[in-house]
Amino acid sequence: MAIISSPKGTHDLIGNEGRAYAYISDTCGLVAAVYGFDPLLTPIFEANELFARGVGDATDIVRKEMYVFTDKGNRLMALRPEGTAGVMRSIIANKLYATNDLPLRYYYSGPMFRYERPQLGRYRQFHQFGVESVGSTSIMADFEVILLAIHMLNALGLDNITTKINSIGKKEARDAYRAALKKYYEPHLKDVCPDCKVRYEQNPLRMLDCKVPSDVELAKKAPTITEFLTPQDKNDLEFIKYSLNQYGISVEVDYGLVRGLDYYSGIIFEFAYIPPSGKDYGAIGGGGRYDKLVEELGGPSLEGVGFAFGIERLYHILNEEGKLAHTEIKDDFIIIGMSEKARHTVYGLLTTLRADGLRGIMNFEDKSFKSLFKIAENRGARIALILGEEEMKKEVVAVRDLKTQEQVEVPFDQVVNHVLVSCRHNHECGCGCDEEDCDCDEHHENHECCGEEDCKCHEGEEDHECCGRHKHDENHECTGKGKGRGVNCKKHNTEKTDTNETK
Ligand code: HAM
Repeated sequence: MAIISSPKGTHDLIGNEGRAYAYISDTCGLVAAVYGFDPLLTPIFEANELFARGVGDATDIVRKEMYVFTDKGNRLMALRPEGTAGVMRSIIANKLYATNDLPLRYYYSGPMFRYERPQLGRYRQFHQFGVESVGSTSIMADFEVILLAIHMLNALGLDNITTKINSIGKKEARDAYRAALKKYYEPHLKDVCPDCKVRYEQNPLRMLDCKVPSDVELAKKAPTITEFLTPQDKNDLEFIKYSLNQYGISVEVDYGLVRGLDYYSGIIFEFAYIPPSGKDYGAIGGGGRYDKLVEELGGPSLEGVGFAFGIERLYHILNEEGKLAHTEIKDDFIIIGMSEKARHTVYGLLTTLRADGLRGIMNFEDKSFKSLFKIAENRGARIALILGEEEMKKEVVAVRDLKTQEQVEVPFDQVVNHVLVSCRHNHECGCGCDEEDCDCDEHHENHECCGEEDCKCHEGEEDHECCGRHKHDENHECTGKGKGRGVNCKKHNTEKTDTNETK
């Protein structure tokens, strides 16, 4: 029978890749939480009209890239191409704005769908992590979300990020700019691509975004928005630039930056990062301010600002940078039951070890030793626990260290403790360390909670730098992973109990 392949432009997230995606999203979520953001997760399909009105009829996304379908109730629906419109719909429908606690701060993560031509870093189903800050007209809100984005990227281990900002001004400035663009493009109309001919009529700003080489050249000589910006718009740009510089973050003002969605007004921004291979996966994220979106969707007059990262692009970059190795999980043990009876006998051991937080599997069928050891090797297991007729008679389990190949017999009643001790340093410091001479205990000594407000105990230690996030946290948990990765620290949560039991 013919094999069914995954739809073009989609991919399956298998094993460690799936884990890495969850890690990226969770890390961003934890940083967002520190900034006071809460989750707001919306459906992956919405009324088509939401995107037509929200993202804009004239955008490529709505005109060409949406997955639109009629449901069985004859409603015109669309798979979401982005997350902002859905969050606004929810804020309006649930009257979340009816609070004096503005701006509302929400984040979301999940799949988005755009019928684009698949290429490096571009998919038809992709994942975004996004945030929206809704209900403040202050430029501080713009600054806060940009800083938040950079903090998230730092937490993932990315430091040399290119941040580009621009302002596309308020409606009046954009209207004047549109008119100027039309004037500029008019004599060239016969030469531009068919899409740009439509863009010329509907929204000439989109022409600046065209990727057709001859149109890119034309766009280079087009008037820029700068001459139409008000002094306030220019001040806002300066404020963002100056404030980020104060935090040591450099920002490039790119007057040619336009974004592919119609709801923007004022500050817009994009983040880029070129990994060592030099591959350009495209912008890793982008966002900006939107002043009329909530109103256009039937809500009150509230401005918002937000951004979204592309998780696929972040994944590729982090992978190339070797920043995802710690998300790869290996097995601690494999149990090899040599017969059905042995497997039934030893199943309790499997359950106990798992309950103790160790990761491992047992064979369910009879297989050769060779193939079982191959499985153990592929899964990175540290030890094999073997139970055959002989061992059952003697009430022992043969425990083989899969690195040294040394094998000992351990009585049934001591095996749990034996395994916990053998696998202990895999689980103590949370570093995923596989070293024979792991000195977790030393780290532990150095990194125990000091209870001090200005804890500096981890400074300068390569593996165990303090993440800085627990300054206000009584326990001063250590990340065990280096600066910025405190967001997923599990180190000291488990070790106090484990260490005593397993020593
Ligand atoms: P966007 O620039 O369309 O903005 O998408 C944000 C990010 O999603 C991009 O920078 C890119 O990393 C990723 N992305 C977009 N399309 C694809 C694709 N086809 N394949 C892979 N990754 C992709 C928005 O979606 C806005 N809703 C962001 C925002 C939030 N603005 C205000 N609030």
